[in-house]
Amino acid sequence: MSATSTFHRWDGTASYIADEGLKAAVNVAVALQRPLLIKGEPGTGKTLLAHAISEGLGLPLYTWHIKSTTRAQDGCWVYDAVARLQDSRFGDRDVRDVAQYIKMGPLGEAFASETRAVLLIDEIDKADIEFPNDLLHELDAMRFVVTETGEEVVAQHRPIVIISSNAEKELPDAFLRRCVFHYITFPSEERLTQICRVHHPDVEDELLAGALRRFLALRSVKHLRKKPTTSELVDWIAGLRLAGIDPEKLQRTLPFAGVLLKDESDAEKARKAGAMEPDEGEEGGGQGGGGKGGGGKGEGGAGNGWRGWR
Ligand SMILES: Nc1ncnc2c1ncn2[C@@H]1O[C@H](COP(=O)(O)OP(=O)(O)OP(=O)(O)O)[C@@H](O)[C@H]1O
Ligand SMILES: [Mg+2]
Repeated sequence: MSATSTFHRWDGTASYIADEGLKAAVNVAVALQRPLLIKGEPGTGKTLLAHAISEGLGLPLYTWHIKSTTRAQDGCWVYDAVARLQDSRFGDRDVRDVAQYIKMGPLGEAFASETRAVLLIDEIDKADIEFPNDLLHELDAMRFVVTETGEEVVAQHRPIVIISSNAEKELPDAFLRRCVFHYITFPSEERLTQICRVHHPDVEDELLAGALRRFLALRSVKHLRKKPTTSELVDWIAGLRLAGIDPEKLQRTLPFAGVLLKDESDAEKARKAGAMEPDEGEEGGGQGGGGKGGGGKGEGGAGNGWRGWR
């Protein structure tokens, strides 16, 4: 097998639409065995990418969701000192065996996996500023020692590491040097259509085209505090379909605008820019029942709380 035929390993999946730039970034990171750092607007498929790589390559996925309090060691292992203390007082386990109180974290599990694994370190920018530096050593060495037991965990196969960030904090240069970087740009209209079709395979052409047109007009409004994203578009179309909204109605109103716009001032800016009609929020929520879906389906529009801005 030639080198190039083994290079192009990942080609997206049926349910994840990736452009050529993203495919190239994934494949080069896999080939170089470097972590892939993914940035992009919220809802542009950063988290979903790791799932798609795991699915596409047929490898298990371990997810490590980072919070402000997460420490690098938590990804390797967690020592449950509280359970041990409880057992020493009330339990019947032999507390001298410390190993039973050690639980592998996602990084530890990915290292211990018998097959190569995909490890998602999701939202690294939520962590403390020192977190990426603390992680460097384990990611480089692909091994760590559990302090409490002295056991050394060595990666049997170097995992494919995907790191997502919403760019809330800068990452240190030493960390960046070790990664392959890719920024997921906002999808083109054509790609948005493909993504919507993945999630709504039987959506009417007219409804999809109308929804996209309104969505893109909203995104083009200047100075929005938060532009609507791909995932909100997918949700919005689900709402339109559940409520049985007639595609023709999208020419006049923007039903359930609250699925797309999450700020009063953004709604105001959209109205001023002509991307949203006055009073349409009320109309959108209230007229679901009048759409094509009719009956019980349509009533869900208002009844389920899908209301736009007033
Ligand atoms: N390329 C894509 N192919 C298919 N679906 C997509 C794609 N991009 C986004 N989506 C849709 O957007 C949703 C959100 O994706 P995801 O959670 O991966 O975004 P994210 O970039 O991680 O967002 P956040 O920064 O808010 O965590 C997905 O569940 C899916 O419905
Ligand atoms: Mg995410």
